[in-house]
Amino acid sequence: MDSIGPVGLWQKEGAPGCPQEGLPCSPDSSELIQASLLRSMEQALMGQASPAPAVRMLPTYVGSTPHGTEQGDFVVLELGATGASLRVLWVTLTGTEGHRIEPRSQEFLIPQEVMLGPGQQLFDFAARCLSEFLDAHPVDRQGLQLGFNFSFPCHQTGLDKSTLISWTKGFRCSGVEGQDVVQLLRDAIERQGACSIDVVAVVNDTVGTMMGCELGTAPCEVGLVVDTGTNACYMEEARHVAVLDEDRGRVCVSIEWGSFGDDGALGSVLTTFDRILDQESLNPGAQRFEKMIGGLYLGELVRQVLAHLAQHGVLFGGCTSRALLSRGGILLEHVAEMEDASAGTARVHTILRDLGLNPGASDAELVQHVCAAVCTRAAQLCAAALAAVLTRLQHSREQQTLQIAVATGGRVFEQHPRFLSVLQETVTLLAPECDVSFIPSVDGGGRGVAMVTAVAARLAAHRRLLEETLAPFRLNREQLAVVQAQMREAMVKGLQGEASSLRMLPTYVRATPDGSERGHFLALDLGGTNFRVLLVHVATEGVQITNQVYSIPECVARGSGQQLFDHIVDCIVDFQQKQGLSGQSLPLGFTFSFPCRQLGLDQGILLNWTKGFNASDCEGQDVVRLLREALKRRQAMELNVVAIVNDTVGTMMSCGYEDPRCEVGLIVGTGTNACYMEELRNVAGVAGDLGHMCINMEWGAFGDDGSLDTLSTCFDASVDQASINPGKQRFEKMISGMYLGEIVRHILLHLTSLGVLFRGQQTQSLQTRDIFKTKFLSEIESDSLALRQVRAILEDLGLPLTSDDTLMVLEVCQAVSQRAAQLCGAGVAAVVEKIRENRGLEELTVSVGVDGTLYKLHPHFSRLVAATVQELAPRCAVTFLQSEDGSGKGAALVTAVACRLANQTRV
Ligand code: G6P
Ligand code: BGC
Ligand code: BGC
Repeated sequence: MDSIGPVGLWQKEGAPGCPQEGLPCSPDSSELIQASLLRSMEQALMGQASPAPAVRMLPTYVGSTPHGTEQGDFVVLELGATGASLRVLWVTLTGTEGHRIEPRSQEFLIPQEVMLGPGQQLFDFAARCLSEFLDAHPVDRQGLQLGFNFSFPCHQTGLDKSTLISWTKGFRCSGVEGQDVVQLLRDAIERQGACSIDVVAVVNDTVGTMMGCELGTAPCEVGLVVDTGTNACYMEEARHVAVLDEDRGRVCVSIEWGSFGDDGALGSVLTTFDRILDQESLNPGAQRFEKMIGGLYLGELVRQVLAHLAQHGVLFGGCTSRALLSRGGILLEHVAEMEDASAGTARVHTILRDLGLNPGASDAELVQHVCAAVCTRAAQLCAAALAAVLTRLQHSREQQTLQIAVATGGRVFEQHPRFLSVLQETVTLLAPECDVSFIPSVDGGGRGVAMVTAVAARLAAHRRLLEETLAPFRLNREQLAVVQAQMREAMVKGLQGEASSLRMLPTYVRATPDGSERGHFLALDLGGTNFRVLLVHVATEGVQITNQVYSIPECVARGSGQQLFDHIVDCIVDFQQKQGLSGQSLPLGFTFSFPCRQLGLDQGILLNWTKGFNASDCEGQDVVRLLREALKRRQAMELNVVAIVNDTVGTMMSCGYEDPRCEVGLIVGTGTNACYMEELRNVAGVAGDLGHMCINMEWGAFGDDGSLDTLSTCFDASVDQASINPGKQRFEKMISGMYLGEIVRHILLHLTSLGVLFRGQQTQSLQTRDIFKTKFLSEIESDSLALRQVRAILEDLGLPLTSDDTLMVLEVCQAVSQRAAQLCGAGVAAVVEKIRENRGLEELTVSVGVDGTLYKLHPHFSRLVAATVQELAPRCAVTFLQSEDGSGKGAALVTAVACRLANQTRV
């Protein structure tokens, strides 16, 4: 008997009607298949497009195997795992290891016409089964959450978003391929209207099988299903999955090995019977590997072979039957039973007779050999594929040996007596250095799907909390138009000297440069990130600038005014010495970026400090006098302080030197502010009606009258309360660099307290003020930064985060910076519309000179400002000019204009 065992049968020469080809697999061809599948898997992981690898390697958004803490009640809908039946389960996860509550389930047969009909019909059928199940099982219907076990190849873009690539296994509904199957199910449940269920996760059956695997000694990191179809998934290192922008952790990948060989790689082992079966299938040319292994096909293969042998007189005396000649006449159950040695030949005879055959004495044994050959090959092919996965795991983890558990599921495992043992034997042959334990899934992966659903539900809940938290930051056009209108109203009131949060301070700059300015000037630039002393040479061929950056220590910025101005003079002296200017008395322009009521070009009364400055005895003082007194105290030299300008004015003048249409200055840096050229007739308190006057709006204080309270969030309030000037500079505190990082930090603290971030762990670092620098927003939101780099920035802050956390932090940053840019855009829109209406123009073309670290370094800020201005002031063509030389040059130009005008009046 052994000599003519299964292998012998097919390869015995001259045996009538027996083709000489490949059932079951020789060790060589198994290794070939193992190697070829491994190659195809690695090509797909690297994202190779052409030739397209035969297996798809689809990321499933499942980033970790279960840690048993998941808990709750979940509905699971299984479609496709077991062929023409659909199953609904009620799964209760206790969250306690080893404590299991048996799921309640109900199976529904899917009519053929539903499996081949319009997609809507299939999903309506599923929704009806759901409500029938819920009607039949007294369950709490509040907040039902459903996990959709959809066992077909899908591109997943989230735990609850999955697009069907192609049907397999006897399904071929129209209007579904290319669609998001979760949405189709949600629509059907809605149409059914019987129950409100939230579909929170879609899961492939292999993933459900792996996730449902009981915690054993070896980590269960492979899910293997052989039911009507076949497939496997495993935990791959995320950095190896090209489509994922991730370099840490692992992700579960559904291999979709059913399509292995669709590129012809299985040519050498395919038999005539495989080719006929494929030709007659619903999807010829596709799922070739599955058609050699899947339970939907094993019966058909056996039928083909038996029919062939019968027609060649080798079996049943050459007689056939309708069942033997008709597709689907022999099912998996038949094969499993007939091959089951314990069933004995008697049972085989019964089955063959039920198939309308009249088996002879030796027929039963021969039929059993055929069944064994078909199933052994299937198990060996499956083993070769699994061995490829194990080898991939060794590669991916750079491990010589591997101890791993494989969760198995599917009726071929459950019903077929020898499938698992042949699989184990062959895997041991093909992957000897892998210690593999096989864990049969207890409920077809229902629990596993519930676990993924629990994770998805948690993430969905987190997402809802994140959206609720960020919603106040998402400003719509109406809200921005209100800000624009309020800003406009406050501008008019401020210009007329009425109570307004906008001081609209005249700057005594009446004209932008006309290019005739000449000379050497000193300039100071105080109030931004850096304090700079500049030597500016304005000549025919242009402006040359030499400058030196000096720091203003916090203790000086918050010390005494005398100390601050003495420090400024020390820097000037140091600069003059370095530039060989000692003893020279150059005209000086002082960019002083704080709210000053100017009484003239060289006289500015500091109204109040902002941006973290708080030097004593300065507010209410003329800062030019304070500077001159400091110079006198130093007795070093006589400096001619000609002008004090705000950095917005300096920036406008600096850009105006290149573009005469530049009539607005905008700063979005440590602080924020804007100035623009207003009609003198509109400026109360300054004599004259003709000409223009540059107005320093001090828009940082906009909203200090409460007009922004409707937009202000609790996070803004926390930042304001913690600032050294609570209640002040409200607009600035929603926009500028000194505060955005702190707003983000407070939001992160809030989300952590809700358990949404960092697993709810409040870290010391996150509670540290100013630890989340605004520059991090610019880095984190940069398009060129991969998620992993974002993660690195956050980990350097000592934040223990997952990839989901990283994504959420990115969204928080985006929401905060977007609101800032939109509010800034609404402000600019108010200014340019004022200028347009001042001049009674239909259309206004104007340029805005801009400076400030946030505006210049943030990857999206400038674009969002411009877009908001475009939307709110469509009749103004606004060009934003980034100032290259800062406002120091502008201060020098203001000084140069003043000197030119002074010279003209002298002559
Ligand atoms: C430039 C200007 C300064 C201005 C600063 C604002 O450096 O020269 O006058 O104050 O920008 O930006 P920052 O980000 O430094 O606060
Ligand atoms: C599908 C897979 C599924 C497998 C087992 C195949 O036909 O493409 O998604 O996992 O069957 O059910
Ligand atoms: C100051 C303004 C300055 C702006 C930008 C604000 O805090 O009040 O004077 O223009 O910051 O630096």
